[in-house]
Amino acid sequence: MTRPVAELTNVSRIYRMGQNKVVALDDFSFSFGRGEYWAIMGSSGSGKSTLLNILGCIDRATTGSYRVDGEETSELDDDDLSDLRSRRIGFIFQSYNLIQQLNVLENIQVPLFYQDDPPEDGPERARALAERVGLSGRLDHRPRELSGGQQQRVAIARALINDPAMILADEATGNLDTKTAGEILELFDELHAEGKSILLVTHEPEVGERAQSVLRLRDGRIDTVQEGRQAGA
Ligand SMILES: Nc1ncnc2c1ncn2[C@@H]1O[C@H](COP(=O)(O)OP(=O)(O)OP(=O)(O)O)[C@@H](O)[C@H]1O
Ligand SMILES: [Mg+2]
Repeated sequence: MTRPVAELTNVSRIYRMGQNKVVALDDFSFSFGRGEYWAIMGSSGSGKSTLLNILGCIDRATTGSYRVDGEETSELDDDDLSDLRSRRIGFIFQSYNLIQQLNVLENIQVPLFYQDDPPEDGPERARALAERVGLSGRLDHRPRELSGGQQQRVAIARALINDPAMILADEATGNLDTKTAGEILELFDELHAEGKSILLVTHEPEVGERAQSVLRLRDGRIDTVQEGRQAGA
C-alpha cells in the first residue's frame, strides 16, 4: 500500500446514553492509502457515519489512535484538531451545510476562516474552484438561489479550498436526482484521477461501484474489504 493518508488503530467509539451504551465502532483498525478512492458501505447503523466523522476530525474516538497524514490526533486539543481539520480534510455532507447568509464565493472560503494563519489569496482560490465545479456564473448567489446539485458543487469547492490530503463525503449524492448525482460522481472521478484521496460513505451500490475499493462495515467492525478494483470495472 501507498503511505497511509488515514490510519486508525484499535479505535472504538462508544456513545453513552444514561445506563445504555452503544458501541458504534468496535476496536476498529484500518489504513486508507494516499490517492485511493474508497466507498464505505454497510447497513444502517453499522457505523459508517461514526467512522467518517472520526476520519474527518468532527468527532473523536473514545479509545485508540487516529493519524491523519502521519499526524496523531488523539493528543490534540479541540483548537488544534479543528485547525488540522480545516487544513487537511475536505468534508462533504448529504445536506450541503452551506451558510445561508453567505454567497457562493464566501461559502467556498469558509474553511479559511478557521485557520490560524489564513492565506491572502482566498478569493482568487475560491473563484478558480467555482469555475472548476462549473459555478463561475453564480458567485453572488446565496444557497437558496441554487439547485441541490449546484449547492453540492459549492460544498465540493469548499472542501477543496485548502488542497486537503483527503476528501470525505457522507451520502453526498443522497439528496440528488440520478443525473445530478452522476455529475457529482464525475467530479469525484476527476479528483481521484488528479491524485486526491477520496472516502465516500454510501448505501447505493451504483455509487459504490465508482470507487476503486470497498470497505463494508457490520456492527462497528469490518465485514469485508474489496481492494484495488479498477474504477468502472
Ligand atoms: N450521537 C449519537 N448518540 C448515540 N448513539 C449514536 C449517535 N450517533 C450514532 N449512534 C449509534 O451508533 C450506531 C452507528 O451509527 P451511524 O450513524 O454511524 O450509522 P450509519 O452506518 O451511518 O447508518 P445510516 O446508514 O443510517 O446513516 C447506531 O447504532 C446509532 O444508533
Ligand atoms: Mg450515516
